[in-house]
Amino acid sequence: MLVSRTPTTLLLALFALACPRMHAQTVDGQGHPWWKHAVFYELYPRSFADSDNNGTGDLPGIASKLDYLKQLGVDAIWITPFYPSPQVDFGYDVSDFKNIDRMYGTMSDFDHLQTRANQQGIRIILDLVINHTSNQHAWFLDSSSSPTSAHRDWYIWRNGRSPGNPPNNWRSDFGGPAWTLDAASGKYYYHNFAPEQPDLNWRNPAVEAAMFDVTRFWYKRGVSGFRLDAVDYLFEDPDLHDNPILPGKNERGEPNMQDKYNSKLPEVHDLLRRLRGVADQSGAVLVGETYTDDATELKKYYGAHDDEIQLPMNFVFCTIDKLSAPEFRKQIAAAESTGEWPVYVIGNHDMPRSYVRYGDGQHNDQIAKLMAALYLTLRGTAVMYYGEELGMENNDPKRLEDVKDPAGKTGGWPENKGRDGERTPMQWNDSPNAGFTQGTPWLPVPPSYKTHNVATESADPNSILQFYRHLLALRHEDQALLEGDYVDLSPKNDAVLAYLRRSGDEAVLVLLNMSGSPQTLSVDVAAQGFSAAHMTTLLSTPKPPPRAGLRPFTLQPFAVYIARLSR
Ligand code: GLC
Repeated sequence: MLVSRTPTTLLLALFALACPRMHAQTVDGQGHPWWKHAVFYELYPRSFADSDNNGTGDLPGIASKLDYLKQLGVDAIWITPFYPSPQVDFGYDVSDFKNIDRMYGTMSDFDHLQTRANQQGIRIILDLVINHTSNQHAWFLDSSSSPTSAHRDWYIWRNGRSPGNPPNNWRSDFGGPAWTLDAASGKYYYHNFAPEQPDLNWRNPAVEAAMFDVTRFWYKRGVSGFRLDAVDYLFEDPDLHDNPILPGKNERGEPNMQDKYNSKLPEVHDLLRRLRGVADQSGAVLVGETYTDDATELKKYYGAHDDEIQLPMNFVFCTIDKLSAPEFRKQIAAAESTGEWPVYVIGNHDMPRSYVRYGDGQHNDQIAKLMAALYLTLRGTAVMYYGEELGMENNDPKRLEDVKDPAGKTGGWPENKGRDGERTPMQWNDSPNAGFTQGTPWLPVPPSYKTHNVATESADPNSILQFYRHLLALRHEDQALLEGDYVDLSPKNDAVLAYLRRSGDEAVLVLLNMSGSPQTLSVDVAAQGFSAAHMTTLLSTPKPPPRAGLRPFTLQPFAVYIARLSR
């Protein structure tokens, strides 16, 4: 049972056989790697739970909320960076990869969290900020201390094109040139993000050895894998060709540019294979921050022999910010066409919350359930974002001087208010600051915390939170939802997504009305060999289904209907 065609699964199986205790941990009862059917939950440690009431979250805070996560139905948490950091980019500027920032706790707090998570059966994955470090990291301090320093070649140093001009036209993701002059040496260093985030030189084998060692350090402490930050930017054209300029301007008013020579270079894939080799030695999973709207490009991150990233995140749903059945259908078909195991995401710490992206201002709670039903019933692994299960909304800064996010400060206010709005504290109850802290929270909670919080929603059988709990429970136990293939039943319907997840003699039918008006449709499951007479409703919102049978079937505005069928 354990042997399969793919080297990945084969490796995992051999690993499991060689190490029976790990077998229990890395492979489920049917021989699937643990992460395949897992639901991941992204958690921003500054904002999740504040145990010492200083206004920012911490590791003991997370440990105190594991029961909540278990009850929700989460299998793994991805904790965004908690390493020592000057916090220029709120932890994505790491000054020591093998330690914990004091604001979040200590290494023993981490070990305690890992132990508690093991007891709960919740895996932990960390964020590996692999493209760059903080300019306060010892490696960069040494690198910038002298052109002959031991770490000089760990970063990318170049002469300007001419006095006062950077080496080429590449631009930082946070705006402005991607090069900063070091006055002492007269050379420029390269940074794809803020100047305080110099890019590592991955062409230097010493960088690779040091970063691979970082991953081993955490694997030994019990982590189950990493989310790989900004992988597209790991390599740059050594000849520093200028990037082509495209028509139009970006939101900062800069001319658009194609990142042809500093993004997605083929060398990225060679490196990912080697990084995966190290992960495989610990049975670990790699989740990728892999931005592309091209399914063929997404497929490449899995590796030609499934030997790169096991879970490259598919962000296309995040770019569809209106409810459009044809658009979602098209993107599901594209993901399915790769033949790979998809990874769906509808929100994270870099994009406005799904609640506001899809909400119409009137039916937002129902729409939040609709979106949950979509990405949690599709074939694949799902990555949730904390608070999505409550219907948390953005609380964007009201004034430019309040913006904390570096990308928001340079982002083109007021059109772009930065990412603070989607990073606000988790809403635990309706007491001040949503029960997150008794101090002053680092970001303010939105007024809707009074109704959208864990305590209030736990007491309401119709809340978004209860819907998530039911859905996640269903997803974990239903074989068709876990493994079944995807069959589109409504290829031409402009308002409703209708599909089957089919596994042997069982299937789950999913009907999602993406419109604000009632929709009546005839669903033909007989053509797939199933009978509507043997249909059991599993979840239905906003109301129970009006009548038995599927011909015709009326769905209320933004309704979700999920049922089990058999042959
Ligand atoms: C990734 C992170 C983002 C961060 C950037 C630089 O895109 O998700 O939050 O600002 O990398 O590290």
